[in-house]
Amino acid sequence: EGQNVITLQRVPSTNEYLKEELSKSTPLTEGTVIMAVDQYAGRGQKGTLWQSEPGKNLTFSMLLTPAFLDPKHQFMLTAAITLAVVHWLESVLGVVVKVKWPNDIYIGDKKIGGILIENILKGNQWKSAIVGIGINVNQTLFPDAIREHTTSVKQILHRDCQIPELLTDLCKQIGQAYFSLKAGRFETLLASYEQRLYRLGELHPFLVDGVKVAGVLDGVAETGRLRIDFNGHLVDFDIKEIAFVI
Ligand code: BTN
Repeated sequence: EGQNVITLQRVPSTNEYLKEELSKSTPLTEGTVIMAVDQYAGRGQKGTLWQSEPGKNLTFSMLLTPAFLDPKHQFMLTAAITLAVVHWLESVLGVVVKVKWPNDIYIGDKKIGGILIENILKGNQWKSAIVGIGINVNQTLFPDAIREHTTSVKQILHRDCQIPELLTDLCKQIGQAYFSLKAGRFETLLASYEQRLYRLGELHPFLVDGVKVAGVLDGVAETGRLRIDFNGHLVDFDIKEIAFVI
């Protein structure tokens, strides 16, 4: 995948751009990548903004059509893509990379990137998946509110990296992950994803319905719900129901 890269100088959001392209009559081929030099209204999970200094970071979206995947296994796509990013980033940085559920990319206690996958389904069939990825690469100054919990490739390697090269390697990694997703080994995939979870097995404070509660992060269900152990009682949550307390 990722052979077909379209670089846009300035765009509000590459996810949004792909979505609009999909509503036009000219078909886009699977694997098409829209990459932004300056993405000025990037979107994150839960309606947040994804801010990125122009020209400094990796901000792109890839179009996939996972027709082979039962929509009830949507989370397996998320897991496969997330693991691809983790493995790619580890090879770039040479340090351990973790996943803050569901798909924030973490180095230690700092976020280096995020993934926003938008699945477009028609009934029980896939139309497409827009896989949006943002990785902090050469940016070293961040807004006050996030500075403490944010990092970038440059802050770790102490040098600038070439964005197009990084993109090529990451797309290769995603292509491999997508290919093995077709083989459908979901248990192995889920196990590798769980192994990468930030704070796995640790007692950690979470916000549930606005209330702060401590629980041990136990793992993730096949559906992608986060499983927390509250004194031996396992409860699972979706992304709207729970948040990490930093
Ligand atoms: C998050 O951390 O909440 C997810 C961030 C996802 C950001 C990427 S950047 C490219 C793509 N286009 C967007 O508008 N968002 C994603």
